[in-house]
Amino acid sequence: MNKILDFEKLKKVCLDCKQCNLSKTRTNVVFGRGNPNTKIFVIGEGPGHNEDIEGLAFVGRAGKLLDAAFQSVGIDTNKDCYISNIVKCRPPNNRKPLNEEIQSCSSWLNQQINLINPRIIVLAGSTAVESYLHIKEPISKIRGKWIERDGRKFMPIFHPSYLLRNPSKEKGKPKWLTWKDLKLVKTELEALKK
Ligand code: URA
Repeated sequence: MNKILDFEKLKKVCLDCKQCNLSKTRTNVVFGRGNPNTKIFVIGEGPGHNEDIEGLAFVGRAGKLLDAAFQSVGIDTNKDCYISNIVKCRPPNNRKPLNEEIQSCSSWLNQQINLINPRIIVLAGSTAVESYLHIKEPISKIRGKWIERDGRKFMPIFHPSYLLRNPSKEKGKPKWLTWKDLKLVKTELEALKK
């Protein structure tokens, strides 16, 4: 069957998910947003208030910053990326998702990644790195370096909420480092087109 049809089918089933307790407090399941026919998949932590209301990933302040950061290196998040999260439902009060929530949600993310088959996966923040790659290192240590697994390239970056709290664009600061990391992503994307 056609990949987009499969993706839409997966989404339809996921929107009804009741596999964990987060389903009891969510407004909407946040499946993701962007282009499923793309080479870049971005993984965040979990939906916040705005995402829960709108049912779309990264549409609040952190999302706007993420969009702008990608845009500054010539990547349009809606056209060139698919964006989703480790957990698809908002954890109450934006707490970190629990291990059991991450576990029960992982099959949705794995199926999304299998269907999209991205060459590049950008991991936003340490929860994404820890949950998806099982690497427990401070994000400040592992960001900006490619990790290769299963024929895909992973780029850990600071979470945009952290950048909201650290707004300086000065050389060497988190925002400047993120711009550098996303430049590497853009270079890799261009290389894939050759
Ligand atoms: N933070 C995340 O990690 N994901 C979202 O979708 C929004 C904010």
